[in-house]
Amino acid sequence: MIKSLVLYSSVTGNTEKVAKRIAEVSRRKGHDVAIVKIDDETNVDLLAYDLVFLGSAVHQWLPTNMLMNYVKRMLKTYFTSSVVVPCCPIRPGKYAVCFCTYSGPHTGVSEAIPATKWMRAFLEHVGFTVLEEWHTVGEFKNREENSTKGRLGNIKGRPDEHDLAEIEDRVIGILNALKLCDFSL
Ligand SMILES: Cc1cc2nc3c(=O)[nH]c(=O)nc-3n(C[C@H](O)[C@H](O)[C@H](O)COP(=O)(O)O)c2cc1C
Repeated sequence: MIKSLVLYSSVTGNTEKVAKRIAEVSRRKGHDVAIVKIDDETNVDLLAYDLVFLGSAVHQWLPTNMLMNYVKRMLKTYFTSSVVVPCCPIRPGKYAVCFCTYSGPHTGVSEAIPATKWMRAFLEHVGFTVLEEWHTVGEFKNREENSTKGRLGNIKGRPDEHDLAEIEDRVIGILNALKLCDFSL
């Protein structure tokens, strides 16, 4: 059985919706899933899991400070324990997906891409093979203009059921693909 982790940072609830859907569908498919919202004390060791979904809201084109501080804490541990070394090893059976929610008010999805690339770089340093990067549109709460007059038009209420159904399909696609892997390696 694949041991999965959904680890995320969310301020206004959009990324949390996506994270919860990822966990729900994984459980429905019979997987052992932990779901953790990052806070100041989070210290989860990613290497305890086979499949990691790492997600964040986009703030100024990057993940939230909460997520980036978690990454910086973990990097210290991983450097000290020689998990991260020059020529980082690619660890067999360790897979990851990065996801974010974003509003793209100024330039659209290009505002979100740096955030998933940032998370990807971290995961690859730890030895995960990053399979995909997902960018889901999310309403910019408390900033009406950014949700109605931005580059993506009217994004109120998103992520909506359609967005979440797409996430569900993507999770199922990944889980089906990983059935072909030998996690005992
Ligand atoms: C302080 C702040 C900065 C943000 N910066 C960006 C940004 O640079 N690009 C973008 O597309 N969305 C930006 N957003 C919008 C959020 O990424 C978007 O609404 C997201 O879905 C919020 O996720 P959450 O509800 O999980 O916190 C920002 C929101 C806040 C509150």
